[in-house]
Amino acid sequence: MVMNGAPPMRIDLIPRPVHLEYGEGFFQSTGLPGIGGDRVFQGEMALAAEQIHRDLGLPLGEEPVKVVCREVPALREGEPGQEAYRLTVTPGGITLEASTGAGIYHGLQTLRQLILSGYEPNTLTIPALTINDYPRFPWRGCMLDVSRHFYTPAFIKKLLDVLSLHHINVFHWHLTDDQGWRFPIPAYPALIEIGSKCRNTRNSHAPELKQFYTPGEIRDLVAYAGARHITVVPEVDLPGHTRAALAAYPEMGCTGGPYSVDDRHGIFSDVLCAGNDRIFDLVEAVFDTLADFFPAPYVHIGGDEVPVSRWEACPKCRRRLGELGFERPRQLQGWLTVRFAQMLKSRGKIPLGWDEVLEDTETLGLPPELVVMSWRGQEGGIKASAAGHRVVMSPSSDGCYLDYRNYDLPEEPGAGSRIIRVYDAYMNDPITPEMTRDQAALVLGGQGNLWSELLYADRWAEYMLFPRICALAEAFWIPRELKDFASFSGRLPVHQKRLDILNILSYRGPLQ
Ligand code: ACM
Ligand code: ZN
Repeated sequence: MVMNGAPPMRIDLIPRPVHLEYGEGFFQSTGLPGIGGDRVFQGEMALAAEQIHRDLGLPLGEEPVKVVCREVPALREGEPGQEAYRLTVTPGGITLEASTGAGIYHGLQTLRQLILSGYEPNTLTIPALTINDYPRFPWRGCMLDVSRHFYTPAFIKKLLDVLSLHHINVFHWHLTDDQGWRFPIPAYPALIEIGSKCRNTRNSHAPELKQFYTPGEIRDLVAYAGARHITVVPEVDLPGHTRAALAAYPEMGCTGGPYSVDDRHGIFSDVLCAGNDRIFDLVEAVFDTLADFFPAPYVHIGGDEVPVSRWEACPKCRRRLGELGFERPRQLQGWLTVRFAQMLKSRGKIPLGWDEVLEDTETLGLPPELVVMSWRGQEGGIKASAAGHRVVMSPSSDGCYLDYRNYDLPEEPGAGSRIIRVYDAYMNDPITPEMTRDQAALVLGGQGNLWSELLYADRWAEYMLFPRICALAEAFWIPRELKDFASFSGRLPVHQKRLDILNILSYRGPLQ
């Protein structure tokens, strides 16, 4: 293996591989190389061939196998190591080695990137090289809010596919909020009949359009994500952000309603009534359904932005407060969080919550397995890891809120006055300087979040996600010492041409 000072041609991979060495010469083929190898990887190999042919608009053919996938003993120890792969390109052929399907899939996505940028009609050229690659964090997530804007299954598939090109491996599906409830619960049909329909005065969605996912669509999306080694984590936001559910079942609220599915944005005072035991029947049914649809170990219970004004005024909530010996209504949220977490535990699931779930739960025994998602800043993650919880970092203050504008120009779309530049996303580090080694070990990884209040169409979602999610994908993949924004921005133009081929609309203004 010859170490060249300069690469023989640009390969511009995102995420940047952890180890890359160039060899001598090039792999070249007329047309696309066939992919074959060990049968355990049959699914990944067939999928990659399908993806690459579809990307390039070529019919799947019987090409001679030039890419060989091999199962090898563990390339690295530990959880992120299970996703490791080794890609070797020589003039004579391409070999991909991994010990897991996830590792092979990531390697095939790196190869897909090399093919997307190395294919001229009829001729593929890839420089000889060896890549040894593995992630820094096991959780590299992207959240999509499908309540404020309903994204179709077809769009979600398009998104999952391109996320997986960047080794993103968690899709956090924000399925319920004040503006719409998006999946059916058999015992509570009004959640769909009423809760999925919004009298939307802000844009052109007709309320009669179907704006929920059927069980068949959910199972299909979960399988589609699974084939791409993406775990789907569903979120049902409780006990706040529940006006769509209250519109369907007004007796679950403190005032009894009437409530409407809301087309306004913000934080609403109407939340589930903490003094009414019937909310637990509803939540049990919701968790049963989620456990049935989603094989992932995690279920997100929300917990963000819960006003207590209704609880303060509600006789049922005040009675509950007295029975529990609590002094402040806020303690009811902690009590609900613990109840919900226990209900999930009894279904073999691990609860996740936004960082508010830490408040007023210290004395209630928040289950240690609860994973905290830090969003109001990094403090929630620092506090949670100090208390022994595992955490996912998605701070709005540090590059992870992708609904904020890309740049400080009035014509840029996005929420409010906040700006998250591509640079800010790239500089995100889920492990903060304040964390001790023990705390850092509890950081599962990071996540980019896309709230959709202002994103009325698929194209807007793409524009806000790309390329900031590419920057986050690299920030969550490579070791801190390899992070280099100048290198990233130098690779971005070639990568954005790949995104063009995939028909992804990508922001192209200033990065910094
Ligand atoms: C959030 O952004 N309300 C979690
Ligand atoms: Zn109440």
